[in-house]
Amino acid sequence: MAQVIVVTSGKGGVGKTTSSAAFATGLAQSGKKTVVIDFDVGLRNLDLIMGVERRVVFDIVNVITGEAKLNQALIRDKRVETLSILPASQTRDKDALTKEGVATIIEELSKDFDYILCDSPAGIEKGALLALYFADQAIVVTNPEVSSVRDSDRILGVLQSKSRRAEEKKDPVKEHLLVTRYDPNRVERGEMLKLEDIQEILRIPLLGVVPESESVLKASNTGNPVILDEPSPAGQAYRDAVARFLGEDRPMRFVDAEKKGFLSRLFGGRAA
Ligand SMILES: Nc1ncnc2c1ncn2[C@@H]1O[C@H](COP(=O)(O)OP(=O)(O)O)[C@@H](O)[C@H]1O
Ligand SMILES: [Mg+2]
Repeated sequence: MAQVIVVTSGKGGVGKTTSSAAFATGLAQSGKKTVVIDFDVGLRNLDLIMGVERRVVFDIVNVITGEAKLNQALIRDKRVETLSILPASQTRDKDALTKEGVATIIEELSKDFDYILCDSPAGIEKGALLALYFADQAIVVTNPEVSSVRDSDRILGVLQSKSRRAEEKKDPVKEHLLVTRYDPNRVERGEMLKLEDIQEILRIPLLGVVPESESVLKASNTGNPVILDEPSPAGQAYRDAVARFLGEDRPMRFVDAEKKGFLSRLFGGRAA
C-alpha cells in the first residue's frame, strides 16, 4: 500500500509546488516509486516546474470523467525512472474533481507506487480539502511570516477534522513542518519570524528549513526541480529533508545568519 502525502499550507505562494516537485524527485531518486499529483485545477503549474508541460496530453479531470485511462495521463519523468506526474486540468470548472473520482485514482495508484504526493492548491476550499482528504502524512509548508503561520495552523485543524483518517477515527495524519523561503539575515534583523517562534506556534515536528534562494526561480524557469541542482542551498536543504523523511538523522543547515566580519560590524554594512 502506498503512503499518501499531502503538501499543503493554506496560504498561496509559499512554495508548495516547488516543494512537491523537489520532494517527489528526491523520494524517487532514493529508489521509491513515486507519483506526484497536481490538485490545482485551473492553475496547473507542477508540470512546468517539472519540465513536462509539453508532454501533457490528458490530465486528472480526463481520468475522472473517463475520457482517458490513468496510464494515458501519467507522465514518466525522463530524469528519474521511478518518478511519474499526474497533471492538473486547466479547466475553470473547480467541481470537475470529485471525491469518488480521486478515491478511485488513489486506489489504483496505490497498487503501483510507494508514495503518492498531492500538491494542494491554496485555501481551505474544495480543491485543498480533496488534496488532503486521503492523506496519511502531511508536509505543511510555511514561510516565516505571521499570515503564513496562521494559515498553516488553520490547515492543521482541518487535517485533524476533515481528513479521511479523522472521519474514520484512525491514527491521525502524521504532520511535518517544512519552513521555506527562510532568510536568516532578515530573521536576525527582525523582519521575519524566527524558526523557534514558528515551531512554538505550530508545535509539529520540523522536517526541514529551505532557505530563500535564487536557484529556485532558475530551477522553475528551466523545468528542473531544484533538488537536482547539487550546489544550490535550497537543493541541499530539500535533499536533507527527504533524507530525514526516510528516517535519517541530519543536522539543520541554513538556519543561522552569516557572521558579520569586523569591518562590516564597525561600519554597519550588511554581510555580503
Ligand atoms: N526557497 C525559495 N527561494 C526563493 N523563491 C522561492 C522559494 N520557494 C518558492 N519560491 C518562489 O515562490 C513562488 C511560489 O512558489 P510555489 O511553489 O509556486 O508556491 P505555491 O505552490 O505554494 O503557490 C515561486 O515564484 C517560487 O519560485
Ligand atoms: Mg502551487
